[in-house]
Parts: sequence; structure tokens; C-alpha cells
Amino acid sequence: MRKEVTEIERLREILRHHEYQYYVLDQPEISDQEYDDLMRRLRALEEAHPELVTPDSPTQRVGGKPREGFVKVAHSTPMLSLDNALNEAELRDFDRRVRDLLGGESPEYVAELKLDGLSLAAHYRDNTFALAVTRGDGSVGEDVTENARTIRSLPLRVKAPWPVFEVRGETVMDRAAFERLNAERDERGLSRFANPRNAAAGSLRVLEPTITASRRLDYYTYFLLVGGNPAFETHWESLEELHRLGFKVNSHRRLCRGLDELLEFCARWEAAREQLPYEIDGVVVKVNSVEQQRRLGYTAKAPRWAIAYKYPARQALTEVENIEVQVGRTGALTPVARLKPVEVSGVTVSRATLHNEDEIERLGLQIGDTVVIERSGDVIPKVVRVHTQGSYRRPFRMPAACPVCGSKVVREADEAASRCINTNCPARLKESILHFASRGVMNIDGLGDALVDQLVDRGLVKSVADIYDLKAGQLEELERMGRKSAANVVRNIEKSRQNPLPRVITALGIRFVGERTAVFLAEAFGSLDKIAGASVEELQRAEEVGPKVAESIFEFFREPRNQALVERLRAAGLRFSQEIRRMLVGPLQGLTFVLTGTLPHLTREDAKQLIEAAGGKLSGSVSRKTDYVVAGAEAGSKLDKARELGIPVINEDQLLDLIRVG
Ligand code: IVH
Repeated sequence: MRKEVTEIERLREILRHHEYQYYVLDQPEISDQEYDDLMRRLRALEEAHPELVTPDSPTQRVGGKPREGFVKVAHSTPMLSLDNALNEAELRDFDRRVRDLLGGESPEYVAELKLDGLSLAAHYRDNTFALAVTRGDGSVGEDVTENARTIRSLPLRVKAPWPVFEVRGETVMDRAAFERLNAERDERGLSRFANPRNAAAGSLRVLEPTITASRRLDYYTYFLLVGGNPAFETHWESLEELHRLGFKVNSHRRLCRGLDELLEFCARWEAAREQLPYEIDGVVVKVNSVEQQRRLGYTAKAPRWAIAYKYPARQALTEVENIEVQVGRTGALTPVARLKPVEVSGVTVSRATLHNEDEIERLGLQIGDTVVIERSGDVIPKVVRVHTQGSYRRPFRMPAACPVCGSKVVREADEAASRCINTNCPARLKESILHFASRGVMNIDGLGDALVDQLVDRGLVKSVADIYDLKAGQLEELERMGRKSAANVVRNIEKSRQNPLPRVITALGIRFVGERTAVFLAEAFGSLDKIAGASVEELQRAEEVGPKVAESIFEFFREPRNQALVERLRAAGLRFSQEIRRMLVGPLQGLTFVLTGTLPHLTREDAKQLIEAAGGKLSGSVSRKTDYVVAGAEAGSKLDKARELGIPVINEDQLLDLIRVG
């Protein structure tokens, strides 16, 4: 026991030293692997002797979740919801009510698109983004500052005339990002998000900001509040000011002079909603004058000066004429419903994905049934439920042979998908090339469906690596390829050789390894050869790589065909090694501050929030680990200590500069 106590203490000292080198000084002295080994040893000892665990042990900080949960924050004024108008008549009623309550005045209205996302309040202090809070129950939300900071359209610095102000708006995920995310989740065997709104909510409320960062959210603002009240006399002016300040404000808005103009706006966007890159579910109508808003007031749960004109659900009834199967990159067979063409909100739909056999069973669907289909974000609509069973219905059976190459189809016991076992199946090769070339992977513009079909069908490409041998002359001879586009594709292929390591890893198309996992693998191993040579155990050192993913990676590199592919990609000059450092969140990330004395403008709590919102840490006492002491009037012994240790002392202005410069 004595021996263990000493070893535990020694390990903790060593680990603390290396953490300081890595996180504070950014000068690691040992590899991540050596560090992990030390940590593992300490963890094992602590597990064997739980009574020796202390809260200051490095195991209590590293490896756990970055945050336990979200802090609850009260809103400056409640974030209310809106009453709905489900049709023209209800919008007329709203207009009549408003005019009655205003004693016969005819107000101006502002019509804005109702983005289907999640509302979020963002607070700014000294022109710096300081706090973001979800709607929650309307009066109390959750602090999601670190996650919101990763949204690129949310400005971190602005130039506003108020020392503190708040904006409110909608966090959304556009359709393209939503589809990419779901595709990646399919790939990793995770459940799909039902619509972009759930995806946005799921991305904002994760405990790890790097996840939010990878999910590409957008933030459109629609309220500007100072002291909890509108900053301008009209809503329209607020929107214009938001735009001037650098916030994103939806440009599809209109100042309407009465009901007719409102109805026109609603109808126009109902017809055009599919052309928007994001989902909308209606139009929000607000009385423009803040003075009139005040007179109209609120009901218990919604303002009387605004209403949501909701578009009908985009559903339709149609018949399933057949169920066909498609072969994907991993050989998975996906059943797709062939529908009797039907129009859903302006788009003719003739196919709907059914995902897998289990889904068909869950729906109780057979060929010949009439079904309810719905478009909810996905370009490919989905079957919601069976409406009426067809009189000549017949069940779907997964084919025993691949519809493309005729090879055997198998379904593993623990899997939802059936797969074609032929790794040379042309359908798989085509899908592999498309995956390789796709955006976010090797980014080869111009290498799309039509070109890949021809390349594979004519035998010009028999393996993904063959694309690096293509010559512009060969491409020019293909259908729909001019001289210029051929040269472009070749140039884009050329350019892709420079792509960073995580992209190369993703491009291999290893099952369960999407963009995110690839980054973690690159980070943990630094080279493709190290990943290829790692055992299943070792692979699990990478973040988020569990036994199932590790097994899949291990198996991939044991397969001679894949080994050959890797060698050919190496010969093509792709990047096989690269040191990856995790993106740091916030300009003060890794820095520790101590506050002392009274600052001229900021209260202690303000300063604390600002520092923490920028990723910095606050400590109560000055030590060698302190990076800056922020001193105000009547600073005491902490200032002396800082001078004694030679730690930089800064004032309030300099603190704000640090946050800005970052
Ligand atoms: S105003 C009290 N404006 O719709 C005012 N909301 O059904 C309420 N939304 O919770 C918000 N676009 O999440 C407003 N231009 C817009 C909006 C919008 C989307 C969402 C928001 C709100 C919900 C109300």
C-alpha cells in the first residue's frame, strides 16, 4: 500500500508537469501517447484504491466529459412563443383584433420568414460576445456560450453604442449541412436526426463545443434589446441596425402596409420555400411600431402584436408502386419506394427512402399500399405511415442477389442493413469514388455522378486510386465533357493531393469513420501507417473510437485489396502523415487569470463571465501557474505576489484588448 501511495503521488506530479507544458506553455515534452500511458497507469492505480482518489488528481479533470451539464440562466425578459394563424381567415382575424385594440388605427406590419430552428439569446458586453442562452421554458434557459461561440455567423466583436445589449434570433442548420450530418451518422451507425431543427437543437445542446463547431450552424437575428426593451421605436429599424452591426438578418422581409401585402408575402414564400437553403414553416408577422406594441401588450403566453402564419405540413398521399434496392459504397442495400408521382409543396416526388428492412416492417408497408409521405428537410422525402392497404398488396423481400452484380447478399445478425459481398461490385466502386471526391472529403469538384458512371462503365477507373492517373485527353472524349471542364477536373484532382491527413482518412471509406472520427484518429496517431499498424486496443486511444469502430478500422487495413489501395494512394503522393492539434475554443483558452481590486467598469462577476466566455480560467490566488493578474483600484497582497513572481499585471482595458485580439 505504501508503495502505491508513493507511485500515485509521483504519477500525479509528472502528469501535472506535462499538462502545464502542454496546455499552458504549449510546449509538450512527451508524446500524447506517453502522456496517455501515464494517465492510464494512474487511473488503474486509483481504480484499485478508490480511497486514494483526491479531487485534484489529474484523472478527475482529463478524459471525463468537458462539462457536467448546462448552467441555467434567467432571461432579461421572457422569450415568449407566438400564437398561430393556420389560414388566411385566421390572419384576417388577427389583423382585425389588432386594429380594434388600437382604436381603429391601421398599423404597419413587418413580415419575416419563420425559420425552423431554435431560438437563442446572445448577450454582448463592451462590444464583445459574452453569453448565449437557449429559450428553455421561456423564462429560464441554458448557458450554451461555448457552443454558440463556434457559430461563424455570430459575431464575437461588434461596434455598438450600448455597453450591454442583447440580440435574439434563430439558430438553424441549412439543408445541405443537415444532409451531410445525417449521411455521416448513417455511416457511423448512429440514428438520424428527423429534421434540421432537431439537428440544430442537438448540436447546440452538446457538452463538447468541438461537436457544435463541426456541425455548421447559422444564426439569424430578429430582436435587438437594450435593458430588455427594443432598442428602436420601430421593429424595422432594429432589424436594419442589427444588419449594420454585423449580425445576420434574413433579407427576405417586408414592411407591409396592410393585410393584402402580408398575404402576398405569405403566398410568395409558400410557393418558393423549396428554393431556400434552409427550412421555414411559415411567416412571422409583427406590428412595426414599438409604441403600438406596448399598447397591444401580451396574453399569458404570447404577444398580441405578433403572430405566426403557419404553412400546412408538407404531406401528401400516394401509392407505393414498387420497392427497389440501391447499392451503396459499403455494399449496403437500401430499399427505396417508387411512388406514383405526386406534388408536395411545389415539388414532384416519385421516390422515398425506406432505409432498411426493419423500417419497412415497422411501417407495416407492402407494395401497393397508399402511404402518407412528408418532406421535412431531407431532399428525399420519407414515408410517414401506411394510410390504406392496397387491395393487391405484396410484401417486399430483400433480394438474395445484388441487383447490380448478381453476387450474394448477406445480412449480419446484429445489423439492420443487408450487403452485397462483392467488394468489386461496380455500384460500390462508383459510390466509393463519389464519396472520395465529395465535399468535405477530397473535395474534387466536377467528379460527379455522370462522369463517374462513364469512368467506371468504360473501365477507365477500376480502383479509386486510378483517378490520379487520369489525363485531360481521356476525359475530353467522354460525353458532356468539354476541353475546359476536362482540364478543370484534372486540376482539381491534382489539387486534392495536398489535402490534410484527416481528409485522406475519411476518403478511404472505412465503415463508421466519418470526418469527425478521422480528425480524432489523425490527432491520436499522426500518420496513416500508424493507424494501419495499430491493434484494436491501441485504436481505442483515439477519442470516440470504441470497440466497434476500432474493429472496423483494424479489419479494413487487414484486407489485401485495401492495402493495395493505400499503397497506390501513397504512390500518388497523398498526405500520409501530419501533426494535428485540436482547435482551441476562445481567445483566452488555456490562460489562468486572477482578479484583484476594483475595476473601473466591470463588476467582478462581469469580468469573470467575460474571461470564462473567452475560454479563460479564473483562480482565487496567485501562483506560478497564473498567466495574468487583472488589477484595479486598491489591489492588495495579490498584486505584491504577482510582482514577486514576475507575473504580468494588466488593467481592465488590457483585459478587454486580450479578448479582442484573440
Ligand atoms: S419572434 C415573442 N421572429 O418561431 C416573439 N420568431 O413560434 C417570438 N421564429 O420561438 C419570436 N423565425 O423560435 C420570431 N422571424 C422570427 C422567427 C421566429 C423563427 C421561431 C422562434 C419562436 C417561434 C415562435
